Amino acid sequence: MIEINPFILRNYLTAEYFCDRKKETELLLEKFNNQRNTTLFANRKMGKTGLIYHFMYTATLQESDTVCLYVDLFDSVNLDDFITKLSKEIAIKVYSKPKNILSGLGKIFSSIVPVVAFDSLSGMPQLEFNFRNEQQKQNSLSEIFHFLNNLNRPVILALDEFQQISKYPNQNMEAILRTHVQNMHNVNFVFAGSMKHIMLEMFGSVKRPFYQSTDVMNLGPIPIEEYAPFIQQKMSLGRKTIDKEAIVEILNQCRGYTYYIQSVCNKLYASTYKKIDITHVSLILNKILDESEDYYVNYKKILPEFQWKLMRAIALENGATGMTSKNFIQNYGLSTHGTIQTALKSLIEKEMVIEDDNKYYIQDVFLEKWLQKRG
Ligand SMILES: Nc1ncnc2c1ncn2[C@@H]1O[C@H](COP(=O)(O)OP(=O)(O)O)[C@@H](O)[C@H]1O
Ligand SMILES: [Mg+2]
Repeated sequence: MIEINPFILRNYLTAEYFCDRKKETELLLEKFNNQRNTTLFANRKMGKTGLIYHFMYTATLQESDTVCLYVDLFDSVNLDDFITKLSKEIAIKVYSKPKNILSGLGKIFSSIVPVVAFDSLSGMPQLEFNFRNEQQKQNSLSEIFHFLNNLNRPVILALDEFQQISKYPNQNMEAILRTHVQNMHNVNFVFAGSMKHIMLEMFGSVKRPFYQSTDVMNLGPIPIEEYAPFIQQKMSLGRKTIDKEAIVEILNQCRGYTYYIQSVCNKLYASTYKKIDITHVSLILNKILDESEDYYVNYKKILPEFQWKLMRAIALENGATGMTSKNFIQNYGLSTHGTIQTALKSLIEKEMVIEDDNKYYIQDVFLEKWLQKRG
């Protein structure tokens, strides 16, 4: 096998490159084994998708027959997309072979025949449904769930970036899905989402169909006791050492967000440094900021000036609170109350700013550093 950088920045590869999440994986397995659905939420890049893949991998070790369906709803905008994505995943995971896909899908749907084409390079199926009306979509959705519920194999269905369905134009999408979910006895659901405020609203508000319908799991950072030996062991594959102080610095600077930690480690691994200490960490961080400079300057151009000023203030605060207070406003030369709240709301909607334990942070850790130093 080709040697790869052991600090993966793409999707889950194998358990070997995956750090910790033992408790979380066990919890997900326990819920799966006891037919309880889970809502998993955390800010972007904490490691939700990785955890879902690792859980699925572990579930297939427990029972190799398990059908693990993963659907990323991030770029879905309506029920058509939902059905298309889910059907494609079923085609790949349940039927796998091109010659079985057509006949397999044909058996699921009674009133529509999806158009299936195969990508000439990847061999992946591409599906297209030409629905005649809303009723036909609803029927097809029911047929998919009926099919999954009657598969003679355990099924895990992970719907990632689930908050997206609250934006579909079908007004009752949540209610419809909730009804299907409740009737499933053979399918275990994981609803994962990044936009905490929307997810909490969907699952925690009495008025919403999914209200308290699942177990809730809030994913936090990987503890240093687990991350430190992982980082040291992976560095040793490249004949490098890294001291504990440097690791503490990486975890702190990245506020525990797995993606940024992996990213710094990936670059340290690729560097010529052999004995990594805290000075190398800041060298690498600076290099990352240099490389991203053009992006950040562009943000500055496209954001309204007041929002950019507020971003800078939030970055400098390192966990901002009391942003409408006199002090805050004076310190950062910001104007009145109302404008701050509107700007903050807009930055949260754009996912530039996130909330964590009642404090506000810049979502992108590297952008935060850039704002602190060069904004
Ligand atoms: N436990 C882990 N060990 C190593 N790398 C991880 C782990 N969890 C996530 N990653 C990596 O970190 C990055 C971000 O994780 P991801 O699961 O995509 O976050 P999220 O879905 O919360 O936005 C990915 O490149 C992923 O491979
Ligand atoms: Mg994700």
